[in-house]
Amino acid sequence: MCGIVGYIGSRNAYPILIQGLHRLEYRGYDSAGVALINQSGDLNVYKSKGKVAALEHYAEEKDTTGTIGIAHTRWATHGEPSDINAHPHYSQSDNIAIVHNGTIENYAVIKQALIGHGYTFRSDTDTEVIVQLIEYIIAQNACSLYEAVLQATKEIVGAYAIAVIAKDNPDQIIAARRSSPLVIGIGNDFYCLASDATPIVEYTKKVVYLEDGEIAIINRNEPLKIMTEQNVESKINICKLRMSISELEKGGYPHFMLKEIFEQPKTLLDCLSGRVSIDGKNISISGIIDNKDKFLRAERVIIVACGTSWHAGLIGKHLIEDFCRIPVTVEYASEFRYSNPVITDRDILIAISQSGETADTLAALELAKSRGAFVFGICNVIGSSIPRATDSGCYIHVGPEIGVASTKAFTGQVTVLAMVALTVGQLRETVSNQTFEQVATDLRRIPSLIEEVLKLNDRIHDLSKIFTYAHNFLYLGRGYNYPAAMEGALKLKEISYIHAEGYPAAEMKHGPIALIDNEMPTVVIATADSIYDKTVSNIQQIKARGGRVIAIVTAGDQVASSIADYAIEIPEISECLSPLLTSVPLQLLAYYIAVNKGRDVDQPRNLAKSVTVE
Ligand code: M6R
Repeated sequence: MCGIVGYIGSRNAYPILIQGLHRLEYRGYDSAGVALINQSGDLNVYKSKGKVAALEHYAEEKDTTGTIGIAHTRWATHGEPSDINAHPHYSQSDNIAIVHNGTIENYAVIKQALIGHGYTFRSDTDTEVIVQLIEYIIAQNACSLYEAVLQATKEIVGAYAIAVIAKDNPDQIIAARRSSPLVIGIGNDFYCLASDATPIVEYTKKVVYLEDGEIAIINRNEPLKIMTEQNVESKINICKLRMSISELEKGGYPHFMLKEIFEQPKTLLDCLSGRVSIDGKNISISGIIDNKDKFLRAERVIIVACGTSWHAGLIGKHLIEDFCRIPVTVEYASEFRYSNPVITDRDILIAISQSGETADTLAALELAKSRGAFVFGICNVIGSSIPRATDSGCYIHVGPEIGVASTKAFTGQVTVLAMVALTVGQLRETVSNQTFEQVATDLRRIPSLIEEVLKLNDRIHDLSKIFTYAHNFLYLGRGYNYPAAMEGALKLKEISYIHAEGYPAAEMKHGPIALIDNEMPTVVIATADSIYDKTVSNIQQIKARGGRVIAIVTAGDQVASSIADYAIEIPEISECLSPLLTSVPLQLLAYYIAVNKGRDVDQPRNLAKSVTVE
């Protein structure tokens, strides 16, 4: 949520900052801005409502020179998207500029105090308060920019990643973080910083992840200095990025979302690689093996997540209960964090998050940890906040997911959950060798089976044209595929803006059936599972009321396909892994309907990929 970029070095900063903003646009795209200090020492700030392209257009004829700068792409929290509310914000004297990702909870109190000291405000944002406060502290104490930022971070309450530059200090960027991510790239003659590593990787692979409460003093041509909030110098821990630039490009696809759907055979191969043995007899998840005792004595598993990751968690519940015989609850992280949960040291909390930065999930895991639970993370973004806050975990390794609608991360999460459930089940001796080997072997088949499913692309594209103008959709599934139905509905609503609901198929007759008519399509997942016959009855109930049905069925299906209006066949697979296949046609259906409607598929309205605010 909001992306920040900074650069200081020998090159012109502007193109680097703009390219960085494009990479971070998935985090928010309602306005963008840049601040640069030129050779003459002028601090030029350009900002514009709309996407980064609008900013580029606005800045076309302006002075965009300067080898130091900061930039921002915004997802509005305080104040509507507008030129004025866009970042960077600058201080009363126009001497200091700031970009910020996060929210400041006590901004109103500080603002009032600053107004009392004669400060006036141009925007409605909480961010402007920080830069004014920094200027006020400097004026009162005649201190350095760093000292003022240090002092300001003690006074503000909330989440922030900030980067600050000052006109009278053109060789320095001060950056700080609390609860919002910040990565610093180290080059031979430059430093860059960003909300994640994607804007950095094309310039350097050497990065430092700032920890909560740390402040970086980034001086031109000097070694990087990182200070704690106690003003003590921190040890600098340099990490090497494994990401490649091609992972950040569309690679010939019209949208990142379509690229990411089609990448799934490869991403799941990467996810499984080195973990499931060829003979299907062993699965090696070091985060479990190294903490064997915790998993052996666990009495309960609590899964916390949001959105798509929460849907993966629901599938995880089935997997863990089936194979490990441990009771599992799946909680919305946003609800869990404000509840008063009963937690013991025999609880394992699994936090699932693609970005690893979701504020609610992070807060939920911290609550559970403080009450004694062992916390295990399932994340995608390496080095992000959630994996760093957990006791142990397992990356899904599906590569950067850029489309706001999560696709390959979902299948990666379910794949990891299946491996976790099998591993723990084997440890606890609650899964038979036969079942273990069957499911592990099927897991290894998943990448090639998804290749098969992707061959349905054209057929689903054709089908999408029939349903593009529906106003409502119902998605039904049962057991393992009820969460897949909910995920299908979420995909459709977030990118096409069509209202869609996912329901357990049998619940339909307790309410949603009232909505059925020939204008409301129902997507029913009716694969050959243990309750197939019941799902077929549900399809009949819809047809009896004039509804139109798209059924996702197992290859060779006779019954459901003959009753439904349209049938999409997926290959046969163990029931517990079937959501990995059923979710793919639903991703494609949502994608094509959104494209047919001319929607901005990768950056749908009002959404952002990384939800770092409450
Ligand atoms: O990064 P996370 O997995 O923690 O994100 C959670 C949700 O914000 C995310 O899944 C969201 O629902 C996606 N837009 C779904 O496509």
